[in-house]
Amino acid sequence: MAQFPEIMHRAFFRTISLLSQRGQGEVLRRYFDWWHRSPDPWRLGSDGYEQLKYATTLGQVPARPYERILEVGCSEGVFTRLLASAHPQAEIMGIDISHRALLRARDRVRESDARTALVQADIVTFASGRPFDLVFCAETLYYVGRHDRLRRASARLTGVLAPGGVLVMVHPWPEAERLHRFVDSDRALSRIGQHVNAATHRPFSVAVYRHAGEPVSLHDDLPGGVR
Ligand SMILES: C[S@@+](CC[C@H](N)C(=O)[O-])C[C@H]1O[C@@H](n2cnc3c(N)ncnc32)[C@H](O)[C@@H]1O
Repeated sequence: MAQFPEIMHRAFFRTISLLSQRGQGEVLRRYFDWWHRSPDPWRLGSDGYEQLKYATTLGQVPARPYERILEVGCSEGVFTRLLASAHPQAEIMGIDISHRALLRARDRVRESDARTALVQADIVTFASGRPFDLVFCAETLYYVGRHDRLRRASARLTGVLAPGGVLVMVHPWPEAERLHRFVDSDRALSRIGQHVNAATHRPFSVAVYRHAGEPVSLHDDLPGGVR
């Protein structure tokens, strides 16, 4: 059962999503810049619950080499840095709507700078010239608000996946069922795993999807680029 603060939180972001797509993006950018006015507002770098979620998430990723990894809603780069250690050969892109968060992420991932790009972007409109073979989206989809925006954001997530690519989504449980529904119903994807941890104060789900098709080398251009 959702708690009152979470119900109010979702209602607030649903109201923002009644704006035009551009207006919503602008309000969210300002809001999350303000939210990041002091470092690590969610204590992602130190909170035990967040560390458990990160470890669980990494443990659900099918073991194979990945060449290009995208993290959506990377905030200050706490998980991005873990990704860089777990996949030292991969190029990694972190996107976030907050410029201020990305400035801190840049400091955090400095050591792996050469292969980590941090880009200000809105998931509702994000597009990439090159696909990714591993995409993460954690604790971000409930900010996009209404049905139509969630559908668009979900289409962006699946649209940047390469054939055979893997998408990992992490959100509170059971709300994840609502947030992941458009990806669940995308016929180009199959859900290959789901881990629900209901034994914490805030249950969460890690859902893993695989895009149809054989994995391809992303060092070569795909015909037609990103779908
Ligand atoms: C709760 S934090 C989650 C950070 C990270 N994914 C994690 O799980 O540790 C959510 C992040 O999503 C970003 N965000 C919110 N709406 C976004 C949007 N429409 N596009 C891109 N990033 C967004 C926020 O700026 C914030 O940094």
